[in-house]
Amino acid sequence: MNIEAALEEIGKAPTLESLQALKVQYLGKNGLVTQEMKTLGRLSPEERREKGRVLNEWKAALEKALEAREAQLREEALQARLLQESIDVSLPGYAFPSGGLHITSRIMQELVGIFRKQGFSVVEGPEVESEFFNFDAINMPDWHPARDMQDTFWVEFKNQPGFTIQGPFGEDVTGRGGAVLRTHTSGMQIRYMIQHTPPFRIVVPGRVFRYEQTDASHEAMFHQLEGLVVGPNITMADLKGAISELARGLFGEEGKARFQPTYFPFVEPGVQFAMWWPERQKWLELGGAGMVHPYLFKAVDDYRERQGLPRAYEGMTGWAFGMGVERLALLRYGIPDIRYFYQNRLSFLRQFRG
Ligand code: PHE
Repeated sequence: MNIEAALEEIGKAPTLESLQALKVQYLGKNGLVTQEMKTLGRLSPEERREKGRVLNEWKAALEKALEAREAQLREEALQARLLQESIDVSLPGYAFPSGGLHITSRIMQELVGIFRKQGFSVVEGPEVESEFFNFDAINMPDWHPARDMQDTFWVEFKNQPGFTIQGPFGEDVTGRGGAVLRTHTSGMQIRYMIQHTPPFRIVVPGRVFRYEQTDASHEAMFHQLEGLVVGPNITMADLKGAISELARGLFGEEGKARFQPTYFPFVEPGVQFAMWWPERQKWLELGGAGMVHPYLFKAVDDYRERQGLPRAYEGMTGWAFGMGVERLALLRYGIPDIRYFYQNRLSFLRQFRG
């Protein structure tokens, strides 16, 4: 038996099975080394000692070689498996469909953010409003021609006898006319003033409704942002400053505001305002504003008094504005039709996804 050749053969065994076969071939019950051992009895004592030592060395060398090769083969098998099972991170993954904010929400957040920076608080009010807050208290009694400027969804509660609209203190303000889907956010001026004492500055983002024939520039539902600032010495200059700041917030340092006189029953004087869009060199008509009409302060104080609260608005002045949110988006993005906003067509909405 050639021990060198045997060790080399073991070192090159290609598989665990062939290695096992070699183990049997050399060290098995009828293996070559075992057979050699059996011949020892026929030798002289010296020869036996010498050959026995050599055979034991062979046996040890073979066992060591078998073990080493086995470890090697197992390691190779493991590496091969790891390679096969590894994750190929260069493969494209699964795309999870992700939602996004509606274009109206994004514009609203942008607007509200600009006012927050100037210390305004953000408050919201009910969409189903009483005739009193939506109209009467802001100087639009039912005989007033200005009511005709806003076509209204009137809501009846015929089948909900217990239904009421609550005022700022939980009192029933449903009133004679029942309820309306608010035609603007200006009713919140009254709700907020009744509950708070000046000075304060607030913005009111909200959804409003008008009973209109819809077309490219009219929807029956849209959004407004209302602003109200009241204090002891608030002037028209503060209003101009705030709207100018809004213009800069929206259109950069070159943004500016323009006022033109107009009429709203709840402000005096009243203006419509536009903002200068430097990029397009255009004025954008965005809303109405003005100094809070004294009628509103009186209506609020009378209401407070009925609730047992002290009058708080004598000697105060303030300004308010209201602007259309979709309108800003339409002009800024050149959207041709306001009805696209609420048709839930993804091909439209995705273009403005945040
Ligand atoms: N409420 C008015 C509208 O909807 C806008 C406005 C608000 C005007 C506040 C003046 C002051 O048209």
